[in-house]
Amino acid sequence: MKATLSENPLREGLRLQRVAEPCAVVIFGASGDLTKRKLVPALYSLAQQNLLGEGFSIVGAARTPMAHDTFRAAMRNAVNQFYEGGPVDPTLWENFAAGLFYLPMDYKNQENYHMLAGLLAQIDRERGTCGNRLFYLSTPPSLYTDIIQMLGATGLNRSNPGSWVRIIIEKPIGYDLESARALNREVLKVFTEDQVYRIDHYLGKETVQNIMVLRFANGIFEPLWNRRYIDHIQITAAETIGVENRGGYYEQAGALRDMIQNHMLQLLALVAMEPPISLKANDVRDEKTKVLRAVRPIPTDPEHLIQEVNKVAVRGQYGEGSVGGQRVKGYRQEENVNPESNTETYAAVKFLIDNWRWAEVPFYVRAGKRLPKRVTEIAIQFRQVPHLLFKNTAEGPLEPNTLILRIQPDEGISLKFEAKLPGQAIHIRPVNMDFQYGTSFGKKSPEAYERLLLDAMLGDSTLFARGDMVEVSWQLVMPILKAWQQTTPQFPNYEAGTWGPKEADELIQKDGRRWRRL
Ligand code: BG6
Repeated sequence: MKATLSENPLREGLRLQRVAEPCAVVIFGASGDLTKRKLVPALYSLAQQNLLGEGFSIVGAARTPMAHDTFRAAMRNAVNQFYEGGPVDPTLWENFAAGLFYLPMDYKNQENYHMLAGLLAQIDRERGTCGNRLFYLSTPPSLYTDIIQMLGATGLNRSNPGSWVRIIIEKPIGYDLESARALNREVLKVFTEDQVYRIDHYLGKETVQNIMVLRFANGIFEPLWNRRYIDHIQITAAETIGVENRGGYYEQAGALRDMIQNHMLQLLALVAMEPPISLKANDVRDEKTKVLRAVRPIPTDPEHLIQEVNKVAVRGQYGEGSVGGQRVKGYRQEENVNPESNTETYAAVKFLIDNWRWAEVPFYVRAGKRLPKRVTEIAIQFRQVPHLLFKNTAEGPLEPNTLILRIQPDEGISLKFEAKLPGQAIHIRPVNMDFQYGTSFGKKSPEAYERLLLDAMLGDSTLFARGDMVEVSWQLVMPILKAWQQTTPQFPNYEAGTWGPKEADELIQKDGRRWRRL
């Protein structure tokens, strides 16, 4: 490990070796897409970096009957296909696969959980996993409560002295505020909050973790980070892909639930929060929750709800069009999608934060599928200079300074400012000062799931959503969901391969601003 860190002097000492204790990870929903695309490749990558404890084991559980060896072969294929670090290393794989087990389970049958307990006890004895267990809920969410209750009923939620039991819950955490609260209640009947790790994979992204470092490890940004100097903030998550093979899930979700309620509000919280008193998980999460609680709620008086929501939120759905030179179907023609579906594939929302730092500074947030470009970024747009000295010399109005945190791809940070064009006359042009992760550190950032799985094994919940935070986020989007249920949209209202519906442009234009051209 040391050798790789020292390949580039900038990386020297950047990461302290954090090795997990021996444990068994139990994945419920092991035959699903997430297991093969993300979870097992991430765990394999951790093994490759020697970050897993001795005897590390995985138990895949799912309904399909399958022998251990069949599961091992399927996972080997998955790693070959989805692990970005190259093909499986046969020696490492042999070691890793010795800790891979499979248990066919009917999630509602208690007897199956006794079998799971037996298998885990056997793994403890044979592989030295010391009773440490990490359960991972990756089934359809309708099964979460059954599994949690069964884990409780069979005592699998309890740890022996000196060992630990934790549970990771994959999104979606609820379908609305009420179901999120119900899930939180159920899980807290069986586990304590510090055993619960609610995943939001955006928090595992290196660039997202860097938001706090940028703000709180540098002296120059924080003094400007407020309403006196910032005009507004734009947070964009644009995807070129459509719903792919996830029509069944997406029909019940839509962009507001799928992206805004979780990932985007997490980004907003990181940008807007006050400095935490320490980096302890709850100190950071307290500040994030606090700022989310300061977001101005949409008035919910039923008579004006639709009107109020229309002032701050816009939805869209893509029709057919072309993305990257390829003709693509409209959303309503996608597999497992209702041909008259009113599910939104694009959402834009304007949030205001009622506190001293952000009073009247809008946060414009947008997320959409089948847009022209894949890009996730946070743009902090500063106010114009108070007096324009160069008004007779600049071609057109001067562009405001913008600090752009590029979450993906081309991870980096750039600062746009005005500069004098070389020559006798004063001509002014915007230029960029750029930092790029790729060229600066010369190494690919770890996958979000690697970081999050390792953190959960280490007992660090900083990068996971706490129950109250999830509920506040739901609270913020509920009026929008309600208003949208009460009205029928004119869908499709944007062509695939364009930047969303024209109403989204109007949302920001009526404040005298415009979306950044990306
Ligand atoms: C997931 C959503 O949580 O995030 C997907 O369910 C979306 O619909 C994905 O495509 C985006 O993640 P990323 O890491 O590709 O930005």
